[in-house]
Amino acid sequence: MAAAGSAVGLGNIWGFPTQTASNGGAAFLIAYLVLAFCLAYPALMAELTIGRHGQANAVSSLRKISNTPLQKRFAFVVGFGGIICAGLILSFYAIVAGWMISATVEPIATLAGSDTASTWLSEQSLSRNMIFTAGFIILTVAIISRGVEHGIEKWSKRLMPALLSILFALIVYVMMQEGAMTGLKAYLVPDFKSILDPELLVSALGQAFFSLSLGTSVMIIYGSYISKKENLVSLGAYVTLIDVFIAFVAGLLIIPAMYVAQAQGVEIFSATGELLSEDTLVFQVLPALFDGMGTIGLFVGFAFFALMSIAALTSSISMLEAPVSYAVERFTMSRVAATWLIGVVIALVSFTILLNFGSLFGLVIALTTKFGQPILGLMCCLFVGWIWYRNSLLNEIKQGCPEVATSLFWKIWPWYIKFICPIAIGLVFVSSIVG
Ligand code: TRP
Repeated sequence: MAAAGSAVGLGNIWGFPTQTASNGGAAFLIAYLVLAFCLAYPALMAELTIGRHGQANAVSSLRKISNTPLQKRFAFVVGFGGIICAGLILSFYAIVAGWMISATVEPIATLAGSDTASTWLSEQSLSRNMIFTAGFIILTVAIISRGVEHGIEKWSKRLMPALLSILFALIVYVMMQEGAMTGLKAYLVPDFKSILDPELLVSALGQAFFSLSLGTSVMIIYGSYISKKENLVSLGAYVTLIDVFIAFVAGLLIIPAMYVAQAQGVEIFSATGELLSEDTLVFQVLPALFDGMGTIGLFVGFAFFALMSIAALTSSISMLEAPVSYAVERFTMSRVAATWLIGVVIALVSFTILLNFGSLFGLVIALTTKFGQPILGLMCCLFVGWIWYRNSLLNEIKQGCPEVATSLFWKIWPWYIKFICPIAIGLVFVSSIVG
């Protein structure tokens, strides 16, 4: 449940619909589904298995399966690279999560009748963004410094059903509005010509890896917390299914809601058909939807954004856990000191991004999610496929899943991860560079 909590977050409800909208709708959806199941799930299995075998942070876990000094150095590069990547991801994630929190507070200000406050909360400004970003980082630090794995699991368990119920209720509402059907068509009827567009494939691959929290050592760490009695194969499959399902459902809400907002006069597309404001799309479209509901909309808006903030928190916790668990195990620092120190560094990076928003925000997202995550994830596949002894790998997965040796999974996955995943991920990159 904690791993699912890490996977389900802003990537599903902000990242996926935004990417789908800006990459041609249904074609992106199809590419995403194929890549999530065919490349991200096998890579997730690689990371969870490495972590459960290593019983430690990413660097130590990868070192444990390395056999030569050179491989051990490679283990450090991959593990440490993932930790830096997780920190950078948190620095932009906290900004978006800050937007979620201010959108949660905004209906309260409106109910209290304070127009100034609600305007400040709903409009982009440096002061608002800095305050809420810092607030979100402090929340994450406060939870991680206590090391509450139980807490994470409890929150995740309650969050998922609540999130799904509110999403479904909103979908029913949206479908009854004018313009929704155009949106539904854009989301579900693909233009097959663009599916193989290299740009679209790189974005879909990055989105799949982002959504499953891959390549950043996070799933290695969560793997190390999984009991030897658990069946890794089905656990990984559940996490993937839950994550992809919630992203799909979120798209079912947001894409039609865009067209509904447009029918109500909110400007979504430019004259040339491009999205006007990608990053803040969700924050324009959803409030417009809630406004249309009258006073009830205030409560729905509050509930929706509160759930989103919690979902963001169960994800950000996992990102901060990556550098913290490394610092605690490697430098024998106290957990509290390590967490606050790393939290301050990440807050400084977030502020730098906020102060140079136009040039840095998109750049950091592209560097970490489009390139960093798939490349580091690929390295983990190489570790499992080429470096880890096959018998030792089988013995690890057999724990909790004794019948695996004769299963379809074991017939396919080891060579799949050895050849297909690296080649396919490599091809996506080569095509994007050549294209
Ligand atoms: N997967 C989460 C989401 O969809 C984000 C996330 C959590 C993440 N931990 C991560 C992304 C580690 C990359 C790396 O919102």
